[in-house]
Amino acid sequence: GVTRRKLVTGNWKMHGLRAQLKEIAAIEAAAAAHPHVDVALCVPATLIAAAVDHAQTVRIGAQDVHENEHGPHTGCVSAAMLVEVGAQTVIVGHSERRADQNETSHDAWAKAAAARKQGMHVILCVGETEAERNAGRAERVVQAQIEKSVPEDADGDWFTLSYEPRWAIGTGRTPTTEEIASIHAIARAKLRMMVGDAADRIRILYGGSVTGDNAAKILAVENVDGALVGGASLTAEKFVPIIQAAA
Ligand code: G3P
Repeated sequence: GVTRRKLVTGNWKMHGLRAQLKEIAAIEAAAAAHPHVDVALCVPATLIAAAVDHAQTVRIGAQDVHENEHGPHTGCVSAAMLVEVGAQTVIVGHSERRADQNETSHDAWAKAAAARKQGMHVILCVGETEAERNAGRAERVVQAQIEKSVPEDADGDWFTLSYEPRWAIGTGRTPTTEEIASIHAIARAKLRMMVGDAADRIRILYGGSVTGDNAAKILAVENVDGALVGGASLTAEKFVPIIQAAA
């Protein structure tokens, strides 16, 4: 079998002024103390450069990227720009961007390719809505998102998938471990159809109301290779126990 290192990634979303950077020191210490766990923090674009100065072991990332290298796109940031300030990772296709900015799976695909071209690590998010789950369509929705958004050259050294059921984000509600196992198995099988054996090297994270209390249980589920953490990544006090649970 293939061993996949656990990856714990924080997504600060639109939270954090410079004062928030003080949290990184303790997160960095925990990451250094657990060398078998990969730790990343996706901070607001305005904090990337400063966050990089506070991190060695922790990889600093962005939460979005434009699909083009440059051009007339007011307000947007390219992968080269992110890399220049030290971002190593980027989240694409997050459901909040799909909902708020009307981003599609095709957009996520194009953004992943653009980031890859600049040598970035990509975390691509998929996940069903509550209505889709209630209609029994969660599996099909996730399969279709993977089919439309995962790049054909995806491999574990640069690409990570994250399953984030939309109804579990920021709600304190999580799927059962059986439900998580089922979607992650389906995602792995879909990846295998698309990229062959490389699918075994691609990490599949779970995201949605992960906390220090439920992390160990969720991270023990088959095919769960880490977590994408929102609210509980904002303070070291809440985030460090999740890193420890992954160790
Ligand atoms: O990207 C992580 C995320 O959407 C989960 O957020 O606050 O439920 O951990 P949260």
